[in-house]
Amino acid sequence: MKKKVFKLEVLKKEQVSAEAVSLFFKIPLAEKKAFHFKPGQFLTIIHTLEGESLRRSYSICNDITDNSYVQIGVKKVKNGRMSRFLNEEVKVGDYLAVEVPMGRFTAELDSTQYKSYYFFAAGSGITPILSMVKSVLSVEPYSRVYVLYGNRNQEQIMFKGDLEILSERFADRFTIIYLLSQPIRSWSELWSTKTDFVYRKGRVDAINIAWFIKEYPPYAQNALYFICGPGSMIANTKARLLGMDVPENRIAIERFGNLGTDVQSKGGMAATAKVYIDEQVYELKLKQGITILKALLNSGATPPYSCEGGVCGACACKLVKGAVLMANNSVLTEEELNAGWILSCQSTANSKKLEVVFEREK
Ligand code: FES
Repeated sequence: MKKKVFKLEVLKKEQVSAEAVSLFFKIPLAEKKAFHFKPGQFLTIIHTLEGESLRRSYSICNDITDNSYVQIGVKKVKNGRMSRFLNEEVKVGDYLAVEVPMGRFTAELDSTQYKSYYFFAAGSGITPILSMVKSVLSVEPYSRVYVLYGNRNQEQIMFKGDLEILSERFADRFTIIYLLSQPIRSWSELWSTKTDFVYRKGRVDAINIAWFIKEYPPYAQNALYFICGPGSMIANTKARLLGMDVPENRIAIERFGNLGTDVQSKGGMAATAKVYIDEQVYELKLKQGITILKALLNSGATPPYSCEGGVCGACACKLVKGAVLMANNSVLTEEELNAGWILSCQSTANSKKLEVVFEREK
């Protein structure tokens, strides 16, 4: 079976906003292939805190052409044990257990294509988008990138330094508009019309999205739209884009927050399941209401998974026999569902026999 978890050394730690750090992990030469990532993917960190083994996913922020390290952004979350640990305790030279990159919120890049990329981010939703922005700008010289990025105030903006450098370096192909819902007004701003930092007041909402697209219309017919942030921001942005006749298949979303739903279905039935992961076959007895993922973990298997909330897609697998009930799904498309894809963290048996295949690349 392929190894998925590696001990990686923290090479560098940087403060990237008042409440967030960026960690850079060194990738040993022998593990380069395992840590090859697509822009927008995430890493899962596994660490035991207060006797409990925790797994948390953080988006990779670096350019795909810069693969001597992987960089993540971690915003400190109130009561978030792992995010506090990474912000406050981890130091350069420490080693952490890190699972290989996963995730489906990603862009397929090609140096010959002309595309307009629109990114809508709120708060730490900028992290996967930063990797896509950097990668598009360095891999696709004919494409243009537009970012609408919302925060409460200036101090919450993550990676402002990186974003400003990109704005200067790619002034002809990269546009970013900062939205602040409660900006901090500086003394010079209060006494004159001059602002220290250019932003629009507001949120990533219907009015600002409509203004943004009108102000920066697609440069190529081939426009793609990426949204990352909390659930309500995603729903509103998607609805606004659909209202502007953006085809649904051009919109990709990554939901932040609301993770870790403990699924325990009341419907369905007990079942036996045959599960294929890499070269291993697991024969499981599933109790009624227990997810396939939970049963696999209880049996000692090591399936891919991360959020356990039906959000990241890391646990996706193919149901080749039987039927399941799926509690939440924020990631699989209609097409994928029709092709038999399910989220194992959300699926409980709804037939007496199941057969499930994990395909590593999906
Ligand atoms: S582990 Fe994230 S969707 Fe199942």
